[in-house]
Amino acid sequence: MAAGSGDKTKILSEKHNGNSMEDYETIEGHAEGPPTNNVFKDDVEFSHLVRESETAIECGVHPELSSKGSSGCYFIRNVEGKIIGVFKPKDEEPYGHLNPKWTKWMHKLCCPCCFGRSCLVPNQGYLSEAGASLVDQKLNLNIVPKTKVVKLASETFNYTAIDKMKARTKKNIMNRVPAVGRHFHRIGLPPKVGSFQLFVTGYKDADYWLRKFDNEALPESTSVHFQNLFERLVILDYIIRNTDRGNDNWLIKYETAAAGTPDEGWDMIENPRISIAAIDNGLAFPFKHPDEWRTYPYHWAWLSQAKKPFSQEIKDLVYPKLDSAEFVQGLCEDLYELFRHDKGFDKATFEKQMSVMRGQIINIQRALQNGKSPVELVQMPVVTVERTSNLVGYPRFTQSFAHRAPFFSWC
Ligand SMILES: Nc1ncnc2c1ncn2[C@@H]1O[C@H](COP(=O)(O)OP(=O)(O)OP(=O)(O)O)[C@@H](O)[C@H]1O
Ligand SMILES: [Mg+2]
Repeated sequence: MAAGSGDKTKILSEKHNGNSMEDYETIEGHAEGPPTNNVFKDDVEFSHLVRESETAIECGVHPELSSKGSSGCYFIRNVEGKIIGVFKPKDEEPYGHLNPKWTKWMHKLCCPCCFGRSCLVPNQGYLSEAGASLVDQKLNLNIVPKTKVVKLASETFNYTAIDKMKARTKKNIMNRVPAVGRHFHRIGLPPKVGSFQLFVTGYKDADYWLRKFDNEALPESTSVHFQNLFERLVILDYIIRNTDRGNDNWLIKYETAAAGTPDEGWDMIENPRISIAAIDNGLAFPFKHPDEWRTYPYHWAWLSQAKKPFSQEIKDLVYPKLDSAEFVQGLCEDLYELFRHDKGFDKATFEKQMSVMRGQIINIQRALQNGKSPVELVQMPVVTVERTSNLVGYPRFTQSFAHRAPFFSWC
């Protein structure tokens, strides 16, 4: 594979793909309003969970701001007080105007030139969270706790003084002059749009368990299962080009089995069970490849699991899908449907995001075909696959390579 010039090197394909282009444009023409009124027709369970959160807030069980991190990340409880979700409002993202954590605010104020990630669409972290979940589900990876875009209001969220004052005034009027108050469109604080992720229990930061596994090797079958889960994480992160996958941004649950008694026979002793959860996916889907690979490395590349070639199991799971042009186009269309409702949505930028993603998918295909390992995958020259239309409107894909192969070293 020649990876020399930065020019477009190859016309990848020119397909007469039924009605996909037409559908794409038709979707854009619709003005259906925001995708969520917190009811997901195709996901009753999730709708129910969000309803539980709303009920809890109405009953005074308010979300709690996480002490960790650099933005507004809230733990959502049900009426019994059990944490059921993690909500990240758009306007409280690291660079959102209502971020409650002052460190980022100071950063923006004092150092605006090196603020944010130049390859990411600013203030769309909640879409990236939901988009990662979408990719996870479409590929059956099942490592991202389900995440969707919802709207919630609570007095513990960070609001402007004006919003708080408006809500108080309306409430007072409602109490004193109900006849007037009835005409208000909405009473209370305005709902915030953001990502709502299912809360997973019994997990700890991957960092914690990885250190333990360094000193105490996992039993064979647990280790094989962990390798499979690890490869799923690699596939997810690489496709969405996650720029923030530190070992504190994925979780591991490790349950040592209760030992069976000799009466039950030794075969009753189960191996420890292991699961992972890929959380904090808000800094992904760049519209261009980061200039330097090392600026936003995939931290899993330093783990011993990354040196093993991808397994046949992961190849069987994802290759047939990634190799299908219809699947990839369907994925782009689903992401479009998710992203397009954001106020700052820009179709041209979205197309660039998809060009990066298609390029990442091509590299994974090649890595899987050639028996490469995750470490070898991250060293491959990055590719973008741009979608344009020819004169008669059929899609046409153009593949370009980066100028330089990404540098990689063990340090
Ligand atoms: N879905 C989840 N299930 C269980 N625990 C979670 C989940 N999401 C987040 N957490 C916990 O909350 C902590 C903070 O979450 P997260 O990393 O998503 O946000 P953040 O750290 O505020 O964001 P950033 O790292 O970008 O500043 C995590 O370290 C983890 O302990
Ligand atoms: Mg985090």
